[in-house]
Amino acid sequence: MKFFIDTANLEQIKEAQDLGILDGVTTNPSLMAKEGISGKEAILNHYKTICEIADGDISAEVLSTTYEEMIKEGEELAAIHPNIVVKIPMIKDGIKALKYFSNKGIKTNCTLIFSAGQALLAAKAGANYVSPFLGRLDDISVDGMNLIEEIRIIFDNYMFDTEILAASIRSPMHIINCAKIGADVITSPLDSILNLLNHPLTDKGLAQFVADAKKLG
Ligand code: G3P
Repeated sequence: MKFFIDTANLEQIKEAQDLGILDGVTTNPSLMAKEGISGKEAILNHYKTICEIADGDISAEVLSTTYEEMIKEGEELAAIHPNIVVKIPMIKDGIKALKYFSNKGIKTNCTLIFSAGQALLAAKAGANYVSPFLGRLDDISVDGMNLIEEIRIIFDNYMFDTEILAASIRSPMHIINCAKIGADVITSPLDSILNLLNHPLTDKGLAQFVADAKKLG
């Protein structure tokens, strides 16, 4: 399973990259705004910097919602760096845009997926990734993990190459359950990834080893 970090924060991206387990980065307009990025030039520069820090696929989301504008914007984003993946919302014009980019060999990530039918449409349009939002489904008392399972079955039935990129991760348990179901990728805030490290018996065991190591001289 690939690990992407879901942030536009350069320090967190660098920390995850330095850890040696990072396979890519996802961003969205809300995450970019959180970093105070504003204006076309600043946005393009920020993506360029992310590509210089992190290896692997870097999802950059279009801000527009019409076919023509998404094509223009997506082509500008794709020109920044070969690792850029154009992130397109799950709307009718988005499906057309996914097909356009697929035909041109530009990688895409279809975002805001909340149903198996949406994932199927995006895969048929040639999306490289679909991003089902687990946490936001859980937030409204719908089991987000069921959606990952449904998409896994459908994609396996028809051998779609589209990768399931589980997004809106809220906890280490989301990551573990995604791995059990067979999501291809998780994109997560840094703290949920780092929380995978923790176990009280590891801390207790290490404290004992350190104490006993002192006795060894
Ligand atoms: O990047 C898309 C997704 O991961 C957003 O997560 O926490 O805003 O629901 P969240």
